[in-house]
Parts: sequence; C-alpha cells; structure tokens
Amino acid sequence: MESIHTEKAPMSPGIFDSHAHYDSEQFQEDLHTFLPSLFQKGVCGIINCGTDLSSSRFTADLCARYAPVYGAAGIHPECAGNPPENWESALEEILRLPKMVAVGEIGLDYHWEENPARDVQKEVFAAQLRLANRLGLPVIVHDRDAHGDTMDLLRQYKPKGVVHCFSGSVEMMREAVKLGLYIGLGGAVTFKNARVPVEVAKEVPLDRLLTETDCPYMAPVPFRGKRCDSSMIVYTAGKIAEIKGVPLSEILEAGRRNARELFSLPDFP
Ligand code: NI
Repeated sequence: MESIHTEKAPMSPGIFDSHAHYDSEQFQEDLHTFLPSLFQKGVCGIINCGTDLSSSRFTADLCARYAPVYGAAGIHPECAGNPPENWESALEEILRLPKMVAVGEIGLDYHWEENPARDVQKEVFAAQLRLANRLGLPVIVHDRDAHGDTMDLLRQYKPKGVVHCFSGSVEMMREAVKLGLYIGLGGAVTFKNARVPVEVAKEVPLDRLLTETDCPYMAPVPFRGKRCDSSMIVYTAGKIAEIKGVPLSEILEAGRRNARELFSLPDFP
C-alpha cells in the first residue's frame, strides 16, 4: 500500500514512538493523566502494541480516546501457547476497528524456557503474517534469540513491516532492509555493553529506521531500569544521531516520516 501522505511533519522535537505498551499494569495508576502530559512534551505519535486479545482491545480503546495514538493488534509469542479457539476471527475484528494500523506484536521468542514450544510459536506467527497480508497491513515483529526462524518466515511471507528492538547482526539488518522491512531501534543502543546495536545503528539507512521505546521496558541510559515512556526517545535518538554523525532533529524526523509511510498514517501535529 502506498502512503498518500508525503508532507513534511512540522515542529520539534516531534517524537514518534512506533512501539509502546501503555496497556501495561505499570501505567495503570496514572495512564490518563500521564499520557496527555507526554503530548505536551513533544510526543506527536504513538503506536500501542497489543500482546493478546485483551490488550489489543485495550489498544483500540486508547486509539479512540487519544488522537496521537494508533494501534497494533496481535498475539505475542509469549502468549501464543493457548489462544482462544476463535482467536483469528477475533483478532481480525479488532484490526478492522478505527486507527488499527498493524498486526503486532507478533514473532518468535526463544529466550525463555517457559515460552510456548517453538512449533506453536511459528504456527501462530505464520497465521498472523497471512492475516496481515490478507488485510494489507504491516506487521510489528518481535525476534528474540530466534533470528534464523524469524528470517525464514519473513522471507516466505514477505510482509510489510518492522523488526522491532532489532537485535540481529548488520548482515541480517541488510537482508531485512532488502526484503523491504524497517528496523526499530530503542533503548538498547544506549546501553554500555551495546556493540552490535551500535553497528546496526551506524549502518541502517535513515529511510529504514523507526524510533521506538517498547515502554514501560527498555528505558535508555540515563533511565535504565526505570519505567520507560515515549518522551525518553530523545535519549535514544540522540545516541543514534551521535553514532551516525547527524543532528538529533534528523533522526526524529526520519522516525516520523518512516512511521507515517509504513503505517499509512494521516498527518499528526
Ligand atoms: Ni513490545
């Protein structure tokens, strides 16, 4: 699908967070005062990502309530073990709600032993890749310690989308870009031990980069370990700007422009 919105976004800092979880219980207490405060601090757009049917429904409600919030609905690999029998039609119903712009967060996570079996994860991931292609929607992909199988499925289904919190090598990044995918970089690039993410940040083409948090997780330095929120992207983007040797504004602008393009968003302030 081609984006019909090509105007340059105004304003600074103009932070676009392409990956957030404001449905998390860590925001339960203060969500409806906290979220509007972020819009005052220059956050101009957020994609909230569901991880199961109920958080995807919560995401659709957030979209209805807040103009800068758009949504993704999907079954996260950690939740892929026992989805309800009718999950595919239920998910499709949510995806047809207003402002739902992507299938996500979906993918593979082989990091935790207690996660669903690999075959089960692959089956649920593949079903959602087919659904995304059928609906003409991009995907938001989670890949943790599962690079080989993730790339196999992306090669097979060739969806539009982003590999979020990208943790693969520069070579894998290049292949993902060749497949037409975007690369999401978050707080991990600021961590002291970051080596590969820094190389990826250096090499990723600016027109393929998405800015993101994965909040409330993955807070960038100097907030590492604290509750993360979308305004902290200035620290992540600042680090990427330093790595690439370009101004911060250029990274933030790329984050807005690429998100608008990938998710076919209307203009946001
Ligand atoms: Ni996430």
